[in-house]
Amino acid sequence: MSAKPDPIDMAKYVSALRALDYVQDGMRIGLGTGSTAAWMVRGLGERVRRDGLRVTGVPTSSRTASLARECGIQVITLEDAKWLDLTIDGADEFDPGLGLIKGGGGALLQEKIVATASDMMVVITDSSKAVDTLGAFPLPVEVIPFGWQTTKALIEESLIGMDVAGRQVTLRLNRDAPYRTDEGNLILDLHLRRIGNARQLSLMLNQIPGVVENGLFLDICDVLITGEADGGVEVH
Ligand code: 5RP
Repeated sequence: MSAKPDPIDMAKYVSALRALDYVQDGMRIGLGTGSTAAWMVRGLGERVRRDGLRVTGVPTSSRTASLARECGIQVITLEDAKWLDLTIDGADEFDPGLGLIKGGGGALLQEKIVATASDMMVVITDSSKAVDTLGAFPLPVEVIPFGWQTTKALIEESLIGMDVAGRQVTLRLNRDAPYRTDEGNLILDLHLRRIGNARQLSLMLNQIPGVVENGLFLDICDVLITGEADGGVEVH
């Protein structure tokens, strides 16, 4: 790869490169979003250019789409691909059962659609993201702009009955303006500190009118790779 990581990025870099072991010629691959996924996209592009690997990629964000094209990867839509062989994506937090929180980069909706439409999801992380119980990382929830304050109030009210340690809900901002997803939606970050029952919480959130999707990825991740700053890698 022409670009090399700073030492601080080494853990993400080695994890991303190991994930490329799962790629085979001819595959349709979901391309995740975030700094770890970006190393994977660069590595995949290198194999396309250097080794003549033939793959097509379905990006999970406009950022990843631009990077993939720059790296020489043929980009197609999920509509064209219909189903994918593999998705490789990062995560913000993971638990021992490979449950994830995603959406720190705001791309959780496309990420969940693409991962769910794949035979296999490989998640690339570093060991700092391991937790016993999900929830230390604020849970992103994508909501439509129409009536978002009402949606926020409904979420706050519904959290009262949930097994969580915190209940603060904040609107994500980008330079003092509301952050907008690729779909033009908003992100509410739920500061829950500990999520006692992730499955119940996920079902509850997705029943609230105005909620498009939440960042809990449960029973979706098949393989999780953690990198270390010293270059070590573990596959779970
Ligand atoms: C984007 C995501 C990312 O995968 C997650 O935020 C991890 O990002 P990074 O690899 O930069 O730590 O879910 O929506």
